[in-house]
Amino acid sequence: MTFSDDMSRLLVVLHGANLNLLGERPAAHYGTLRLAELEEGITGVARAHGWKCVCHQTNHEGEFIDLVQRYRHAGALLVNPGAWTHYSYAIRDALEVVSGPIAAVHLSDITKREAWRAQAVIADVVQIRVSGRGPAGYEDAVKALLELAGGGMNEMHKTG
Ligand code: DQA
Repeated sequence: MTFSDDMSRLLVVLHGANLNLLGERPAAHYGTLRLAELEEGITGVARAHGWKCVCHQTNHEGEFIDLVQRYRHAGALLVNPGAWTHYSYAIRDALEVVSGPIAAVHLSDITKREAWRAQAVIADVVQIRVSGRGPAGYEDAVKALLELAGGGMNEMHKTG
């Protein structure tokens, strides 16, 4: 692996189906922020901790899996697979192969909506789960992820 391939301090954020329409989806569940604004906030937190950040969104399950595989050795992975969270065993199996810590984040509280949303088939392969805290939940998940990956602010202070 060359220096430029080094993904050890790379946070990868993957958004799944329909999250491109944040800002138009029901505000009662998802708020009014657009995806670009949400990703700006996440990237800012990562950068403040000395991490790089790349964000992708796709409406195609196979493409989501391809992205998980491409970034399986990144320092940390944050996913919101949208509705796939509740039934995609293929995404669950892709996440199982990821080497770094994974956070699954949901804007809405998936435990307090329709019964089918309460089930998360990816739950056993992620280390951090945040649900129902809107954009703030993403930023907290990033901080927790980077701590877990050994590259959070505390770690930087220890080594720097
Ligand atoms: C979501 C919750 C899912 O149930 C839903 O299908 C989404 C978004 C959330 O962020 O709250 O698309 O993952």
